[in-house]
Amino acid sequence: MKNFNQYKRFTVTSALPYANGPLHIGHLAGAYIPADIFVRHLRLKKKDVIHICGSDEHGAAITIKAKKEGTTPQAIIDKYHEQIKTSFKELGIDFDMYHRTSAAIHHDLSQEFFLNLYEKDEFIENYSEQYYDEDYQQFLADRYIMGTCPNCSNEKAYGDQCENCGTSLNPTDLINPISTLSGKTPVLKPTKHWYLPLDKYQPWLEQWLAEKENDWKVNVMGQCKSWLKSGLQPRSMTRDLDWGIDVPLEEAKGKKLYVWMDAPIGYISATKQWAIDHNKDWKLYWKKQENEEDNSCLLHFIGKDNIVFHCIIFPSILHAHGEYILPQNVPANEFLNLEGDKLSTSRNHAVWLNEYLQEFPGKQDELRYVITSILPETSDSEFTWKDYQARVNNELVAILGNYVNRVLILMHKFYDGKVASNGEKITLQDEFLATELARFSAEVETSLESFKFRQALQAAMDIARLGNRYLTEKEPWKTIKTDPEGARLALHNCLIIIGHLASAMQPFLPNTVGKIADMLNLPLNAFGYDEAIAFENEHTLNPATLLFEKVEDDAIDYQMQKLFDKKAAMTSQKAVTAVPAKENINYEAFATMDIRTGTILTAERVPKTKKLLKLTIDTGIDERTVVSGIAEYFEPEAIIGQRVSILVNLEPREIKGIQSQGMILMAENSEGKLGFVSAGDGMHNGSVIR
Ligand code: 2FM
Ligand code: ZN
Repeated sequence: MKNFNQYKRFTVTSALPYANGPLHIGHLAGAYIPADIFVRHLRLKKKDVIHICGSDEHGAAITIKAKKEGTTPQAIIDKYHEQIKTSFKELGIDFDMYHRTSAAIHHDLSQEFFLNLYEKDEFIENYSEQYYDEDYQQFLADRYIMGTCPNCSNEKAYGDQCENCGTSLNPTDLINPISTLSGKTPVLKPTKHWYLPLDKYQPWLEQWLAEKENDWKVNVMGQCKSWLKSGLQPRSMTRDLDWGIDVPLEEAKGKKLYVWMDAPIGYISATKQWAIDHNKDWKLYWKKQENEEDNSCLLHFIGKDNIVFHCIIFPSILHAHGEYILPQNVPANEFLNLEGDKLSTSRNHAVWLNEYLQEFPGKQDELRYVITSILPETSDSEFTWKDYQARVNNELVAILGNYVNRVLILMHKFYDGKVASNGEKITLQDEFLATELARFSAEVETSLESFKFRQALQAAMDIARLGNRYLTEKEPWKTIKTDPEGARLALHNCLIIIGHLASAMQPFLPNTVGKIADMLNLPLNAFGYDEAIAFENEHTLNPATLLFEKVEDDAIDYQMQKLFDKKAAMTSQKAVTAVPAKENINYEAFATMDIRTGTILTAERVPKTKKLLKLTIDTGIDERTVVSGIAEYFEPEAIIGQRVSILVNLEPREIKGIQSQGMILMAENSEGKLGFVSAGDGMHNGSVIR
């Protein structure tokens, strides 16, 4: 592959997250943190780069979630699109465009792609037998079929995969298949679909991938080879679904594009929207240019479960189309585990980004740092809260923060924060330091450009280590009395080291570098890769502030307890000792109560209380506020979307200054544990309970 320096333009994409739930640290480690670091690095190299992402809003992932929450797919994507976009922004993941696949421009482009291939006669049209739910009169997406895994006998395997043993399945592989819609056995019915002939592209793919052999990560290349080895099969690009992009053919009425056909095209449609918004030419970033050397360098950052789609299927689509560039690299990461267990959305075993941002305000860089330090670059890795605490305390606080703080404090103590010499610019005056700094910066660059982010971060941290060693060795607090010029020189050198540190840390810790710039009283662009770090004579520093705080045991214990509680809540099914029944009442007394089904839309803690949550409930009649004493049992974030039963005609009352309109019903077991009372599937909000 060409060296990155040879490219002037870069198209960097990060996997489009499904808009069906909040982001967690696994997503961050898979794609978004490395992508953001890489893009920041390219920008510092003054490259023309766009970073594209957006919400993936089609497919069964969305409809299943909507069904679970008793709402519409549209409501789900609107809610999570906003939430995800906000979380990314707060963490400092710097996209040029965060788009969404429900946008008209995306539907149009996806249909255009389909028609382009259709008109070239690329698709194989084929009838296949697919499972159909006769009660619901619809074909079933793979995820809507459950049954016994032929490989491990797990009775809850899905039509596309068994989550117990990881085997990739076809719905017809399942033993005793059941439709999750009706709970009945589905029947097989013929249906027509349009297949991408991956088998036909295999020789071309083999050749194209062979050219990447030396550049791509082994974990990525390994997966590609294994797909090729088993022989590629045609894959259907259409589905019998009612949510997605219409197949633009008269005879395909009612059918939708396969979500994995439209999602990667989302990178292109998002770029088109960005170009419209910024008056740019999107084709420069996606289409083959007249001269090959003018092509943009396309890079896809993804997690390992997306490898086949980005390294085999999407390139095949682009190749079949013919006008588009292909990815130069797909630096996919493996999985991040959490506290000895797989991250799992369904088991709520995750560190959710929105919760982290709320519970650790202002500590974005701490999370960025820890995740970068443990990125699953070539094999799965693990996040633990104890490790988070250790890395923040022993590395960010003790090495980086401490170094910057010591230098600034001494500068203020001895010189009132003035960087001054005999009228000249203050530059580095030490050959050894100069060599070491150049070495570390080069190592940051080489490591980043071979997608070794952990190593790159360590090289940047080595600059802080170097600074600490130098300061300790020079002891300006002692020599200030015996050799005042030596002390001044040492501290000036230390300031220049801070400048280099800030420069190298910019891609990793953007907030921290902002704080360092403030303390040094320099603009951010003083730390560009090409800038010579120097101070004007008589430059005044701002007061020292702490870059990082120690993470106390309490905060870690709280997080670990939270994970444990969530797990326990999911698994505990202990027998309940029944509470004796109350006295009888007549039916009229009961009938005065108007109880409805509803959904929790928002939840937040009531400030200065331990037990209270302020909830907004969609009652089907209205959206109303209810204050509920469940804060000790449920995290606000975890119950958004929870179906509930609500007594809507309970007299409103004011609790902690909030007007509470109604009461949600909770079950309480003999141990005082609470559970929501919710009606079964198919009960829309506002359904009457009687
Ligand atoms: O696995 C996922 O979360 C998918 N939504 C990723 C899509 S990436 C791209 F193709 F859009
Ligand atoms: Zn299995």
